[in-house]
Amino acid sequence: MYSDAFCKIYNKLGWNYFPEAFGEQLLSWLKKNRVTVHTSLDLACGTGVLCQLLHKNGIQASGMDFSEGMIKIARGNDPSIEYEVADMITYRPDRRFDLVTCTGDALNHILKADDIEKIFRNVFSYLNAEGWFIFDILNDREIPSREPFDFDFDDKTRARFTVTRDADGVITMKTAVFENGIFQFEECVREIVHDHKVICSLLEKTGFQICGCRHQLLEESEGKATTWYIIARKSPAA
Ligand SMILES: C[S@@+](CC[C@H](N)C(=O)[O-])C[C@H]1O[C@@H](n2cnc3c(N)ncnc32)[C@H](O)[C@@H]1O
Repeated sequence: MYSDAFCKIYNKLGWNYFPEAFGEQLLSWLKKNRVTVHTSLDLACGTGVLCQLLHKNGIQASGMDFSEGMIKIARGNDPSIEYEVADMITYRPDRRFDLVTCTGDALNHILKADDIEKIFRNVFSYLNAEGWFIFDILNDREIPSREPFDFDFDDKTRARFTVTRDADGVITMKTAVFENGIFQFEECVREIVHDHKVICSLLEKTGFQICGCRHQLLEESEGKATTWYIIARKSPAA
């Protein structure tokens, strides 16, 4: 769970670029494939960037996240969108959706394969028949430890990031925030790189059909391959 202090700086780090880019590609993908979506749920929605984009495009979008600070910002950005604070490992909403998404490496925050399986089973249960589950995970290339690097928000606020990778493959990103050179707080986010083939077989085991596993949601797009986009569908008979 992200601390409130970290949630407040999250918006300023430029990371909203990911859900914006994902959302634009998703809307094009839906159009190109003539997929009609009335209702959507964004798991680990963060500050609600993707929900807002889908909502503006006529979809009844909703989101959930277990960091209260992120949901507070999301609700502040658009109070008409429904958000919930919950853990996606156990989350079982009492309604179904045409589309479930999960972006910005949120599934890499789930460190245990058992918990990934639970999420997939839950998503399967609250997707409509023939519904879509579209998400990203980090590319399973090596992510090495890195020397600390800095990001200046403005003249007085600076974040220092340190990335370390342990023997179990868990990546810890430590963010230390300074104001006028004085340390304010520190946040550690832990992620793990999943093997995309294992993820796809877990989806199939759950009953999903894999419709795509690629480096761009839109095949014709270009870009750095830091991510796998996985497009899974609940089979009509399920
Ligand atoms: C890197 S942020 C991505 C946020 C958003 N999806 C985006 O693309 O901007 C990861 C998010 O996952 C959320 N998260 C991590 N584990 C979670 C869990 N088990 N249940 C719900 N949310 C979770 C965090 O609170 C955080 O908001």
